[in-house]
Amino acid sequence: MCGIVGYVGNEEAAPILLHGLSKLEYRGYDSAGIAVRKKELDPQIVKAEGKLINLINKTNDGKLLIGNSGIGHTRWATHGVANEINAHPHASDDFNIIGVHNGIIENYKELKEKLLGHGYKFYSETDTEVLIKLIDYYCKKYKLGPIDAINKTMVRARGSYAVAIMCKNYPDQVWFAKKGSPLIVAKGENGCFLASDVPAILKYTNEVYYVNDLECGVITKNDVKFYDLNGDDITAKKELKIINWKTDAADKGRYPYFMAKEIDEQPQAVKETIDAYVKECSIDFESSGITNDYLKSLDVIYIYACGSAYHAGMVGQYLIENLTGINARIELASEFKYRNYRMRPNALAIFISQSGETKDTHEALLKCKSMGIKTLAICNVKGSTITRDADFNIYTYAGPEIAVATTKAYSCQLIIMYLLAIKIAYLKGTVDYETIKGYLASIRTIPDKIRAIIDKKEIVQHLATRFIVKHDVFFIGRGIDYTVCMEGSLKFKEITYIHSEAYAAGELKHGPISLIEEGVAVVAVATQPDLIEKSISNMTEVKARKGSVVAVTTENNDMENNSKHQIYVPNINYLFSPSLTIIPLQLLSYYTSIDKGINPDKPKNLAKSVTVE
Ligand code: AGP
Repeated sequence: MCGIVGYVGNEEAAPILLHGLSKLEYRGYDSAGIAVRKKELDPQIVKAEGKLINLINKTNDGKLLIGNSGIGHTRWATHGVANEINAHPHASDDFNIIGVHNGIIENYKELKEKLLGHGYKFYSETDTEVLIKLIDYYCKKYKLGPIDAINKTMVRARGSYAVAIMCKNYPDQVWFAKKGSPLIVAKGENGCFLASDVPAILKYTNEVYYVNDLECGVITKNDVKFYDLNGDDITAKKELKIINWKTDAADKGRYPYFMAKEIDEQPQAVKETIDAYVKECSIDFESSGITNDYLKSLDVIYIYACGSAYHAGMVGQYLIENLTGINARIELASEFKYRNYRMRPNALAIFISQSGETKDTHEALLKCKSMGIKTLAICNVKGSTITRDADFNIYTYAGPEIAVATTKAYSCQLIIMYLLAIKIAYLKGTVDYETIKGYLASIRTIPDKIRAIIDKKEIVQHLATRFIVKHDVFFIGRGIDYTVCMEGSLKFKEITYIHSEAYAAGELKHGPISLIEEGVAVVAVATQPDLIEKSISNMTEVKARKGSVVAVTTENNDMENNSKHQIYVPNINYLFSPSLTIIPLQLLSYYTSIDKGINPDKPKNLAKSVTVE
C-alpha cells in the first residue's frame, strides 16, 4: 500500500506534494519520489530511498524543483526491493508518460513480455513501470489522447490501482485513474489536487470527490474532469463531499507520535460516536438507512472483519448473543472467501473496517451481496470503498487515524457494537426499558473513565520497562475479557516486535500452560463477575509456574494476592468493560515499543489498512 499525490495550480507544486506525502507516510515509507513540471519543460524527477525526510532533504524542502504541476509517491515495496530505481515516479524512455501508482498489477509479467516484444526496455523490477509504458504504448500505437490510452490500459491491466500521470503533450495537467485502490480529487483556491487519502489535502480544502472504480479524469489549474470507461464526461454526475475533519486532525501537534495522540483522543472520539446515535434514552440509527422493523425482523447476524476490527466484532457477537436472543457469528473476512456455509434467512451481514478499504473485508461484503444478504458497514471513513458498496452505513467518529496500530477507531467500533446489540434487544423486547436506560447511562460514563485511566498512564509506563526484555507474553481472559486479550495481544506484537499470544483462559490447561515458566509475562484480564473465581484460579496456575502475572481488572476486585502487578480500571457493567480494559493494554504496547526505540506509528512490515490480497 503506497500513497500518491498530484497538484496543478498557481503555487509551486513541490512543497505541496511533499506536504501531502508527509500525511500519507503511514501508507508506505521505504522510498519516495516526486516529478515537477514547469509549463512545457520536461519534468524534473527526484527519488530517494528510505523515509520521506531523505527526499525532503534531497530537494531542499522542494525548493530545488520549479513548476506548478507535479505528482508524488511514498512507497510500500511489493514488486522489487526498496531502492531509488524502483521508487516512483516511473517514466517511459522519452518521458512521454510519467506516473505514480498505488496498488498491484497482477498480470504485469504478461504485459511486460508484450511490451518487450514492441521494443520497450525496463530499468526497474516494478509492475508500475510496465503500467506507465503500456499507457505510453497505447498513446503511440493508436495515436490516442491520455483518456483513451488510460481506458485501454484499464481494460488490459488486471489488479488494483490508483494512478496519476503527466503527459508530455499536456502541460499543466495531471491525469488519474482508479480501480480498487482509494483515490480522492479536490479543487482548492489555488489549484486542484489528487491523493490516496484526505489528510494529504486537508490543509488546502475539505471539499473532495471520491473517484469510483474504472473512472479516470484530469486535474488542471482551475478544474477537475471525470470520464467513464467509454471516455464519456461524467463530471456532472460526481458528488462533492464535505470532510468535517479539523485541519490539524492529521497533525501530531504536541505529541511525539500519532499513536500517543490517538490514544489521548479516545475520550473525545468515543463521546462523539455516542452522541451521534444516543438521543436521551434511545438509540437512533436512522442516518444509516436501517429501519427498526428490519432490525426487529432479524434472526441472525454475521460479522466480518480483519485484525482489530475483527476483535471489535467479537465483542459485538458477545453482546448480541447475550442481549438479543438471536445468534451472531463472527468470521475472519480473509477466511470467509474459502468458506461455503449456508446463510440463514432474515440475516444481516456486518462489515467492520476503520479505513473502509481493506480488500479482504470488501470481498466478503461483495460475496454476501451476491448471496442476497443485506449488508451494513461500520466504518470510520465516509466515501470509502466498503461504505459505497454496503446497503447501510453506520459511521464511527474517530477522525483520521494515522498510526498503523489502531486505538481510537477500535474504541469507537466497540461503542457501535454495544448500541447495536442494545437497540435490537429493545426492539425485540428481550431487555426491559429500565435496564436499557441503565446500559445507556453506563455507556455515557465511558469517555470520562477512559480519561481517568489515561491520566494514570505512568503506572503502565513504569510496568512497560519490565516488558521490554520479555521474549514471550501471554494475554489470558474468559468471556468478554478474552476478546480484549485478542486485541491487546495484537497491539503488543504489532508495535513491540515481542511474541505474544492471547488465550481463552480456559484453554491454558489444554496445552499452552506448558509454555509458562519463570519470567514469562501473563496479562490476565478479569472483569466478568461470574468468572472472577475461575480467572483467579488461572492466575494461581501461572504463578505456580513462576510466570509473572499482571492483572487488569475493575476497582471492585482485589487481585493483590493473585498477581505480581495490578492495573485497576474504574468499575463499569462488565458488558462495556472492553472500552476500559483495552486502554492499559494499548498503553503497555505503546510504552514498551518506545522504550525499545521503535516508532509505534510505523511498525516494520505493517500497513495501516491492507488493500491487497
Ligand atoms: C490494527 O492495529 C491493524 N492496523 C490491522 O489489524 C487493522 O485492524 C486491519 O488491517 C483492519 O483494518 P481496517 O479496520 O481498516 O479494515
